[in-house]
Amino acid sequence: MSVASFENTEACVFDAYGTLFDVNSAVEGLRDRIGPGYGQLSLAWRTRQLQYTWLRSLMGSHTDFWQLTADALAVSLREVAINDSHLQQALMQAYLTLSPFKEVSGVLQLIKSAGLRTAILTNGSPAMIDAAVNNAGIQATIDHQLSVESVGVYKPDPRVYQLAVDALGIPAERIAFFSSNSWDAAGAAHFGFKVAWVNRYSQPSEALPGTPSAMLADLSEASALLGIC
Ligand code: LAC
Repeated sequence: MSVASFENTEACVFDAYGTLFDVNSAVEGLRDRIGPGYGQLSLAWRTRQLQYTWLRSLMGSHTDFWQLTADALAVSLREVAINDSHLQQALMQAYLTLSPFKEVSGVLQLIKSAGLRTAILTNGSPAMIDAAVNNAGIQATIDHQLSVESVGVYKPDPRVYQLAVDALGIPAERIAFFSSNSWDAAGAAHFGFKVAWVNRYSQPSEALPGTPSAMLADLSEASALLGIC
């Protein structure tokens, strides 16, 4: 991994779920209603949600991330033997107001102050990402909100990463891409971005095409990586 490669960065592109917003915060906020299995539910929901993105992309049968997230939740609730339609609705609503990780707002402000362009590139539907960005109060620091809905296929299809190149008008090699999702980091590196894998949970490196150029513990390390502090 080489830090020097981030020096000519013109734009920073961020994955949303898991990178800017804590997907576990939906379930954690309702843990008293869920009971002791809340951690198992959160893991099952996220795992199945991602599996459905990959499976639907392979099947050529796209549905948007809101519907897909609801489908993944319904099956995961059955898996943990919870049958509560009000709780199900509350969990979906909570997905619209996921907590941002604590360093997110500050680091985005630093990046904007340094004159770099910014974008979110996400599986999330436009309405979902709008809600999360507004809830986090980071609208002023994000230049573009880019959703896979424009191409009707999920990450890591290269057409998704191309959306950022097209929206920013900047070549891939001068775009720094940040994702906590190891498979997304691999996909983005394989596409040609300079990738910083935000390895929040100390996961092992993936054996996939595409190698991130840097690994961060969280986004607070992004400004040093970019040489802007
Ligand atoms: C996203 C998923 C990968 O925001 O977390 O695109």
